[in-house]
Amino acid sequence: MKLFVDTGSIKDIEALAVLGILDGVTTNPSLLAKESGDYRQNLKRICDIVKGPVSGEVTATDFAGMMRQGHDIAEIDEHMVVKVPLTRDGIRACKALSTEGLRVNVTLVFSAAQALLAAKVGAAFVSPFVGRLDDVATNGMDLIREIVTIYDNYEFATEVLVASCRHPIHVVEAARMGADIATCPPAVIDQLFNHPLTAIGLEKFLKDWEKSQVAAKV
Ligand code: G3P
Repeated sequence: MKLFVDTGSIKDIEALAVLGILDGVTTNPSLLAKESGDYRQNLKRICDIVKGPVSGEVTATDFAGMMRQGHDIAEIDEHMVVKVPLTRDGIRACKALSTEGLRVNVTLVFSAAQALLAAKVGAAFVSPFVGRLDDVATNGMDLIREIVTIYDNYEFATEVLVASCRHPIHVVEAARMGADIATCPPAVIDQLFNHPLTAIGLEKFLKDWEKSQVAAKV
């Protein structure tokens, strides 16, 4: 399963990219609004660092505006993916942009029916928001299972990009279900590394080694 980071922070992206675990980046208007500088330049910088799919979202809500902004986003870099919301205009824009050969990520997906529509219009990625479903007492991961089944049934090429991941269990369950990608905030990626037994084990190895080196010198 591919791992994307869900952030607009170049500092965080640089820190993760050097680890070799990053396959791509997702952004949204809320994330980019937190960063200083020109958002197009920031997205270009992100593409230069990661060299994988980088989603940039349109803010227009009408078809013509989405097309205009979609072209503008795609021009930033060959790695850019145009993100559109799951609305009627978004689905129409996805069809038109995908037909032109651009990659589209359909976002704000909260049902299997919506995911089916995104696949039918050739979305490269579909972004179901698992954490936000959990927030309203609905199991977000159940939706991932449904989408993976539906896409497998019809061999849709659309990749299932599990978004709004809030903790490592979301990531592990996504992998167990066969989702293509999980996109996580940097803090959740940090949590993937952590296990108390790793820290305790390493501390003991190093202490034992240090003791043996002292003993060897006596
Ligand atoms: O980028 C889309 C999605 O991952 C947002 O997550 O945590 O704001 O629900 P969150």
